[in-house]
Amino acid sequence: MEKAENFKNRITVFSDEPEYNMVRNLYECAVKQLALKFEVLNSEFNVLYDRNPIHHIESRVKSDESIVAKLKKRGMPVNLSSARENVNDIAGVRVVCQYIDDVYRVAEMLERQKDVEIIKRQDYIMLPNYNGYRSLHLDIRLPVYLSDRTEFVGAEIQIRTIAMDFWASLEHDIRYKADKSKLPDGINDEMLECAGKISEIDKKMQDMYKRIKAAESNGD
Ligand code: GTP
Ligand code: MG
Repeated sequence: MEKAENFKNRITVFSDEPEYNMVRNLYECAVKQLALKFEVLNSEFNVLYDRNPIHHIESRVKSDESIVAKLKKRGMPVNLSSARENVNDIAGVRVVCQYIDDVYRVAEMLERQKDVEIIKRQDYIMLPNYNGYRSLHLDIRLPVYLSDRTEFVGAEIQIRTIAMDFWASLEHDIRYKADKSKLPDGINDEMLECAGKISEIDKKMQDMYKRIKAAESNGD
């Protein structure tokens, strides 16, 4: 019962603010614009090279509950303007690519776009996390054109391969379901080991693809 009331209180912190609907709409629009940008890049790539570097795109606007939890965890004020300032991933887009080279290609294509301001770039492919997590993260800001003004909206973009996504999705699932005090010995090391093996396969697939392409063009 207490839990349910806490939940209600946390949500009303935001939704009672007069700007709530306007702000949430901004993030919805930012996510739509970004997803469209990646779809445009993918279809042009298809026209030019007859293949899709992007396997699929996932996007979401963070729930109020998760925004509040993040602010509280960091000891930051829990209100709408604090959320806009301090939570970089309210708008989130995940771009899942075929090959490792595609990840960098897609990132470069976005980085070249004049309206996209890159705030932070974290390359967890070159330098994986302690547990083997791999992905390229771009924290960006982009303009959303409204009826009477332009608002600049922050978003987090995660670009990764299908193999990296496979590991990250299962690791996330295991971590959130697990009772951490009962985690069997060695699981963290095994998780890191799995990430390493998956990364080897990712590189091998990339290498085979390049060799097949090279053989095809030699035959022309
Ligand atoms: P933020 O301000 O939250 O971006 O802090 P940060 O820049 O330190 O975080 P980072 O960009 O490293 O990670 C943000 C997101 O990346 C998370 O919300 C996850 O979606 C993803 N992520 C990072 N590390 C892991 C990990 O170890 N496993 C999985 N499955 N996902 C991860
Ligand atoms: Mg980040």
